[in-house]
Amino acid sequence: MVSIIMGSDSDLPVMRAAAEILMDFGIEIEVTVVSAHRTPDRLYEYAKAAAGRGVRVVIAGAGGAAHLPGMVASLTPLPVIGVPIKSSNSIDGWDSVLSILQMPGGIPVATVALNGAKNAGLLAARILGAQDASIRQQMAAYQELLRSQVQAKYERLERDGWQE
Ligand code: RP5
Repeated sequence: MVSIIMGSDSDLPVMRAAAEILMDFGIEIEVTVVSAHRTPDRLYEYAKAAAGRGVRVVIAGAGGAAHLPGMVASLTPLPVIGVPIKSSNSIDGWDSVLSILQMPGGIPVATVALNGAKNAGLLAARILGAQDASIRQQMAAYQELLRSQVQAKYERLERDGWQE
């Protein structure tokens, strides 16, 4: 199971992309709100219990002073993927990026792009796929789909030209 957590329900419009891509892969998910600053006790209990409940990867999204992914990573041995969110309290998004990216040595968080929840979902699927041939095959098929979509683009451009 992949846990998708976020600092607020206002992060959901971004984080939904992680849930959707994991559902496309048929991977079990749970989605909830855990705030590092506003629910520190819940954060502690959630992160401590996650592995024992069957969670195998945590995706954590937050904005502004985004401490959720790093704190979860400090409390669990599971892999944690951080999604920086350009939120209502972000200056310009860099605050979210740097809060999640610049972890101290020893406590890794795999940080994706600003608002990069889809890639967080795909990375979680790849982590599970390392030990699961069926997920790996689905990932290869997904990559083939991307390849064929781009092929259609360059064939159309080369056929029709670039001018309007
Ligand atoms: C962060 O503050 C959350 O992750 C969210 O991005 C931001 C704003 O939260 P709300 O004020 O919408 O609850 O902790």
